[in-house]
Amino acid sequence: MDETLIQTINKLQDALAPLGGGSASPIDLPQITVVGSQSSGKSSVLENIVGREFLPRGSGIVTRRPLILQLINRRDHADNHLNPEEKASIKPKTDDGRPSEDTDQEFGEFLHLPGKRFFSFDNIRKEIIRATDSTAGTNAGISSVPINLRIYSPHVLTLTLVDLPGLTKVPVGDQPKDIEKRIKDMVLKYISKPNAILLAVNAANQDLANSDGLKLAREVDPEGVRTIGVLTKVDLMDQGTDVVDILAGRVIPLRCGYVPVVNRGQRDIESHKTIRAALSDEQRFFDNHPAYSSKAQYCGTPYLAKKLSNILMNHIRVTLPDIKLRIETALKKYQHELDALGPEMAETPNSIVLNVITDFCSEYTGIIDGQTKDVSTNEL
Ligand code: GDP
Ligand code: NA
Ligand code: MG
Repeated sequence: MDETLIQTINKLQDALAPLGGGSASPIDLPQITVVGSQSSGKSSVLENIVGREFLPRGSGIVTRRPLILQLINRRDHADNHLNPEEKASIKPKTDDGRPSEDTDQEFGEFLHLPGKRFFSFDNIRKEIIRATDSTAGTNAGISSVPINLRIYSPHVLTLTLVDLPGLTKVPVGDQPKDIEKRIKDMVLKYISKPNAILLAVNAANQDLANSDGLKLAREVDPEGVRTIGVLTKVDLMDQGTDVVDILAGRVIPLRCGYVPVVNRGQRDIESHKTIRAALSDEQRFFDNHPAYSSKAQYCGTPYLAKKLSNILMNHIRVTLPDIKLRIETALKKYQHELDALGPEMAETPNSIVLNVITDFCSEYTGIIDGQTKDVSTNEL
């Protein structure tokens, strides 16, 4: 994800941390959720956005429990409340139990395995598969009990993403007869939250008018203010067909528009193609395709990430006045306490703090304005 956004929000969260009372952030960022048919590429899209490989992907029903993925910027780490000696006593260990040299390493931790740190993303994926099998069985069963995974890293935004099973119609394996409704209800629980951003994922080689993801997204977000259309598998479309009409809003218009992407195919997964290689192949695909080369900057995963960043920035901008109000209210309260202490103490500290915060808010509003200005929702 965009490093500038990460830095801006981290600064803001650091500066406001005293207000939130401990580690709770006063900026409640939206949750990013996915909705779409089975195997439309939801897990692939989420993984590319995060830029780390750890989600089980593949044909058929692979994601069978909700996965609530909390990315946590390392500086927000829970160890922060510890004193230096306490911190030093907790040396990170590698997955096989050896102490790790690098304390700046990224790691994952599951809610169901407290204290166990996963330094290998491969092992994180294996644990997701194990935890899925143990709750939902090995024969295509599903479970609404979420898996909670936290990833601590200096390179991520403190943000929550939710991977969900795909919408399906016909029961297979151990699935109950009412599988369609069960998955729908499970997905609705997450996408109905007003704070959820919906990535409505649809394979480009499937008819958009039949998209279950779009249909469900419309039910919870009829105005389309928090739904981004994602068109996957653009590489698998029939020769001579493309998604240009969809992008231009001539098929099913979406207020926030659509982004076409090319994820790794099943063969790429089997040959362990890296995300980096996948992203550069994706770029080359759009740059060289006759239908997309003129608008390649509006295609692909980096553009999707940019769109998401803008939505997050907008959210913060909308929240800022309220944060400022809370600061001013808190200051008024302290002003009274200072007044009670006597006139010589009342003046300076308070006004300095107020000025700093006022400057801070306007500075950040400026930055956020600058970053949202250049990308409107209807570029195509
Ligand atoms: P989900 O079930 O919606 O989470 O979909 P997955 O991310 O698990 O992907 C399902 C299958 O589609 C996997 O075999 C992926 O490799 C493949 N896939 C996903 N996106 C693309 C894409 O853009 N192009 C190609 N060729 N294959 C894709
Ligand atoms: Na799948
Ligand atoms: Mg999936």
